[in-house]
Amino acid sequence: MISKSASDRSLIHAFLVLSAMGFALLVLAFLMPKTAAAAEGHDFVGYQKCKTCHKKEAIGNQVGVWLESRHAKAYETLGTDKAKKWGAEVGVTNPQTDDRCIKCHSTAHGVPDERVSNKFDRTAGVQCESCHGAGKDYKKKKIMMNRDKAIQNGLVVPTAEVCTGCHNDESPAWDEKAYTLADGSTVGFDFDQAVKKIAHPVPEGYDPSATGEAD
Ligand code: HEC
Ligand code: HEC
Ligand code: HEC
Ligand code: HEC
Repeated sequence: MISKSASDRSLIHAFLVLSAMGFALLVLAFLMPKTAAAAEGHDFVGYQKCKTCHKKEAIGNQVGVWLESRHAKAYETLGTDKAKKWGAEVGVTNPQTDDRCIKCHSTAHGVPDERVSNKFDRTAGVQCESCHGAGKDYKKKKIMMNRDKAIQNGLVVPTAEVCTGCHNDESPAWDEKAYTLADGSTVGFDFDQAVKKIAHPVPEGYDPSATGEAD
């Protein structure tokens, strides 16, 4: 047998280098934060802006459902005795002002004020835009009515990664046995079950043009 030619070897070498680069990019992509709030380029408006349309019964009153949920109270929770106790254990004196707590208990954490509307309430907990992305560019009627356009303008249809950006073992409330799967095993977070707990669907047959909800 004749040994591989130099050009064969350099081809193999080039292939290996490219594969390694591809792998490194893949690893980087996994390390990037995936929460919707991290979406670049769009500004935050706050749940009050979504209220104009999403508080109406015909569309499913998503704002009302959310206001009753623990997400809406996530900031308040940081003022409780339990929060103060957990905070003290890790050297946090005020959980409501400490990045180590508010990063998961509020919306648009770390986003500069210029990118947040001046009516935005940083104490309103885990708001719509924590999961659905910053809304300034997709909240307009013409865009919202068209799913593809809304997504192009920053709307996020949340996947499990959006939730696990906060529902993970960095949280002092993390419970590895919070959810039981069909096979009897337990996990700290199960997307399918958790989504059901926060369900806020648009009723079937809802027609924005017929009811005029989308003004
Ligand atoms: C001008 C009225 C209006 C405003 C303001 C508005 N929406 Fe909507 N939104 C709609 C309508 C209408 C639909 C379409 C509902 C349907 O036909 O299913 C919709 C759909 C959605 C959907 C479902 C998208 C999909 O296809 O899965 C999400 C999520 C959503 N809105 C979030 C928000 C959030 C978050 C805000 C505030 C940042 C907001 N909307 C502001 C009217 C509005
Ligand atoms: C920005 C951080 C953040 C994101 C993103 C987030 N959550 Fe949460 N979630 C919280 C916090 C904080 C609480 C606890 C609030 C409290 O009790 O004050 C919570 C509470 C909950 C609860 C109620 C407690 C329980 O375990 O029964 C459910 C259910 C839940 N989240 C589901 C979800 C789902 C599903 C998603 C993704 C679609 C999600 N969350 C995304 C921060 C987040
Ligand atoms: C990585 C995200 C994350 C961080 C950081 C975080 N939390 Fe939370 N916290 C959550 C989530 C998610 C829940 C809801 C857990 C559940 O019940 O499923 C929660 C729930 C809580 C609760 C309610 C627990 C209960 O059952 O009553 C308190 C209190 C709390 N957190 C305090 C804190 C304090 C204090 C800090 C800072 C030292 C902190 N959290 C940091 C994500 C986080
Ligand atoms: C904790 C994360 C989270 C928050 C906060 C949240 N949503 Fe959602 N939303 C979701 C998820 C996940 C879905 C998709 C549910 C599914 O696939 O069944 C969804 C779906 C929707 C839909 C489409 C429902 C359908 O039937 O097609 C609308 C509209 C919507 N959200 C609006 C809002 C508005 C308005 C707010 C704030 C008042 C809000 N959401 C807050 C996670 C969230």
